[in-house]
Amino acid sequence: IRMVLIGPPGAGKGTQAPNLKERFCACHLATGDMLRSQVAQKTELGLEAKKIMDQGGLVSDEIMVSMIKHELLTNSECKNGFILDGFPRTIPQAQKLDQMLVEQGRPLEKAVELKIDDELLVSRITGRLVHPASGRSYHKTFNPPKKDMKDDVTGEDLVQRSDDNADALKKRLGAYHQQTEPIVDFYKKTGIWAGVDASQPPKTVWSDILKCLGK
Ligand code: AP5
Ligand code: ZN
Repeated sequence: IRMVLIGPPGAGKGTQAPNLKERFCACHLATGDMLRSQVAQKTELGLEAKKIMDQGGLVSDEIMVSMIKHELLTNSECKNGFILDGFPRTIPQAQKLDQMLVEQGRPLEKAVELKIDDELLVSRITGRLVHPASGRSYHKTFNPPKKDMKDDVTGEDLVQRSDDNADALKKRLGAYHQQTEPIVDFYKKTGIWAGVDASQPPKTVWSDILKCLGK
């Protein structure tokens, strides 16, 4: 499969993408995870990006497009297909992605929007716990880890993301509505859009995603 997952912070992109990766033997490219790994490694890009991310802003299109381009070309897991999570996030990113994939002879097949009202996102975001190395996410109440504050797979510590606070979330939602939501219309026009009700329990969201992919 070659698809993008679109949705506001907390919609469930990072929760559903691993299901898709496994089901379709595709790669899962999450630009937020890639940026957080740069932050953890304290690279020049990471230090610059951290300021923007903590304030809930968007990193430049140029940087994000080249990051995705590099992964799609070099990551062998992406040969069978890819699930993009958190990219594209602006109209220019969507246009560049289209152009790049057409040049590579493997255009996008589906753009799935995880639809959910803003009010439901605050509790999802403030209760989230993540395993930094893998990007796996849990929730204090909705999806608790088996052992308190430890990753189920590695047993390593879980942490809260530095942008998972009410203040930064407000700005992330603002950026979503202003800069990212227009890409929904972009994909509606090209005929590859499908929408799923993301306020349902994770298992229901997953089966709805499979339905709209025709599986
Ligand atoms: P990014 O990491 O992409 O953050 P985001 O878009 O804000 O999305 P989240 O990761 O917060 O939400 P999610 O949908 O993955 O939710 P999850 O499944 O974890 O980006 C971070 C930052 O990086 C951006 O703000 C920006 O600065 C920068 N950036 C990244 N990409 C960029 C780009 N292309 N261009 C420019 N800048 C970029 O779920 C959330 C919680 O809810 C979890 O605890 C989960 O367990 C729980 N949950 C999930 N589903 C359900 C459900 N159905 N019911 C109940 N609980 C649920
Ligand atoms: Zn995510």
